[in-house]
Amino acid sequence: MSLFNQTRGIKSVIALALISATVGLSACSQSASPDIKAREDIMKDWGNAMGIMGDMIKAPDTFDAATFQEQAAFLADSADSPWTHFQDESAKGGAMETVWSDAEGFSSEADNFEQVTEALNQAAQGATSVEDVQPAFAEVGASCKSCHTEYRAES
Ligand code: HEC
Repeated sequence: MSLFNQTRGIKSVIALALISATVGLSACSQSASPDIKAREDIMKDWGNAMGIMGDMIKAPDTFDAATFQEQAAFLADSADSPWTHFQDESAKGGAMETVWSDAEGFSSEADNFEQVTEALNQAAQGATSVEDVQPAFAEVGASCKSCHTEYRAES
């Protein structure tokens, strides 16, 4: 049972990565920066993970601890991975100028994200219902949103 769900979770992440790669190829005329692609790919995977967990939050009956834990662990484990791809200021992509002009603020948003995803990962371990993870999940969602408001260009 849990193995099945785990496999399904991994499959949907892989499927999304493949779709992203395909879309990326056709929409990539804008910039060839590997940094932009790398950080956008991670962000897309985060969006997918948040979607899987968010669906369970919205429909508590569907809560599956193993799948939720897998997604929460994925976020916590990859939480520090996009930031090194923001070093080249000429590679703006979908980022606002503020990423570089307010580097300290951006870095503190990134630190906060690493903390709240770690807290969600901990809450998910041993969770038996949506109630056990809902507050920590909301914190993660707020962190995505807060950083996007200040540092991600409107698309
Ligand atoms: C510390 C800041 C920060 C945090 C935290 C953050 N993002 Fe982002 N996100 C960005 C920036 C900046 C961009 C624009 C990157 C680019 O296009 O070059 C972005 C872009 C994205 C994109 C668009 C990717 C694309 O293909 O253009 C998605 C989806 C996304 N973020 C999802 C998330 C989710 C979900 C979370 C939380 C789980 C999150 N982000 C957390 C800063 C952040």
